[in-house]
Amino acid sequence: MDDISTLIILGATGDLTSRLLLPGVGRLLTDQPGRRLKIVGADLPTKDQDEWSATVKSAFDSAGANGDAVEHALTHTRYLPTDATSPEQLRQLMEAAEGIPALYFALPPSVTARAINALHDVGLPEHTVLALEKPFGTDQQSAADLNRKLASLVTEEQIFRVDHFLGKSSVLNILGLRFTNVLFEPLWNRDHVAKVEIVYDEQLGLEGRAGYYDSSGALIDMIQSHLIQVMALVTMEAPTSLEAADLRAVKTEALRAVRPWGSDPATASRRARYTAGTIDGRQLPSYVEEEGVQARRETETLAEVTLESQSWRWAGVPFTLRSGKALGERRREIVLTFRDVPHVPEGMQGMISPAVLRLRLGPDSMSLEFNINGPGDPYVIDRAHLMTEFGEGRLNPYGEVLNGILQRDPSLSLRGEAAEQAWRVIDEIRGAWSNGRVPLEEYAAGSGGPEHWGK
Ligand code: BG6
Repeated sequence: MDDISTLIILGATGDLTSRLLLPGVGRLLTDQPGRRLKIVGADLPTKDQDEWSATVKSAFDSAGANGDAVEHALTHTRYLPTDATSPEQLRQLMEAAEGIPALYFALPPSVTARAINALHDVGLPEHTVLALEKPFGTDQQSAADLNRKLASLVTEEQIFRVDHFLGKSSVLNILGLRFTNVLFEPLWNRDHVAKVEIVYDEQLGLEGRAGYYDSSGALIDMIQSHLIQVMALVTMEAPTSLEAADLRAVKTEALRAVRPWGSDPATASRRARYTAGTIDGRQLPSYVEEEGVQARRETETLAEVTLESQSWRWAGVPFTLRSGKALGERRREIVLTFRDVPHVPEGMQGMISPAVLRLRLGPDSMSLEFNINGPGDPYVIDRAHLMTEFGEGRLNPYGEVLNGILQRDPSLSLRGEAAEQAWRVIDEIRGAWSNGRVPLEEYAAGSGGPEHWGK
């Protein structure tokens, strides 16, 4: 199967393109010096060719990119001023493609939806790949509509719904850990696991992204787009193979089983917004004081939801998904806490806590905490930690996802129904929030969140 030879980026002047996409391409091309890729930047604001070439160069430099493939991409890259919602201009854009093109939508969901509509009047070259950034739609209904429109343009295998978390080493290692050891999978169920936490607490604040973030908030930006997909990898059954059809089938099945804990989205969720504070000596204004923020939108910067996978394997095990900005500590991990042992032999002393497995997301590492007879008094239990680093991936997460796109292998992208299922859960929670059933709380930037939440 031929690879993609032209990557067309819609939304080329945006932050995502320069900060994440192009550096990801740079890493990928460094790793694959034989690849020949033409990058076409397209956007409304008129950048000239020189400015665009400089953007690509500085993004590649920031990723330490070098080698033949990088030089080739730099020499051949082009910029075409384009209104992504105009069929005529999209047609001209597609004419700039050589070989099989991938059209990457680095655009807000509303513009993406209009661009997809416009594409219906443009003849797409055979095998064209469509790659869509998160969020995919704005709710379950709009995601379903978008899926229908995409399906009338290309086949499901040509659609890549991007989630860069699926390219993170620790996340991919869930597969290796679970399915290549006999050690963990037999315990990976409600009989042995007491609770699971999937946490992505960041120290970063808004970083000038109000235009996007203020209408998304932590629930959509992180839990809908990323953490619920990670939950699916933790809860899914074993796939027969890592081929897209097999892997995405079990993952989608896992998402279908997800419900708010206790089937009550109000008691299963909490939300909060940061006020002014200090993080590592850095002064942050209150979220509502940030440029471009509209306080009346009540956008949360910290969200926590407790979910259940209603299945034989997981019923009764709480999965807490949490993510927030401007927190005092970076905590990014998947934590499985196992159950207590049924009986501790009399005479055993010391603190006996359940075993804990942690998969840390950046720096990617894993630790298993468990009890052993410690040195010294052999009847006193000590805690031991087994640690291993996953090390830097060959590519960064965006590079890994782009690698799938260029090879036209959608294993790491979401299947259409997976995106809709994620929205189904989030829509229920948002419903409870907009009905006023879950108060918007506050926490000082640099703290651990609202005091009474605990950890
Ligand atoms: C992005 C979110 O998808 O993921 C950001 O929009 C968030 O708000 C980021 O900071 C976190 O991922 P990473 O890999 O950059 O730590």
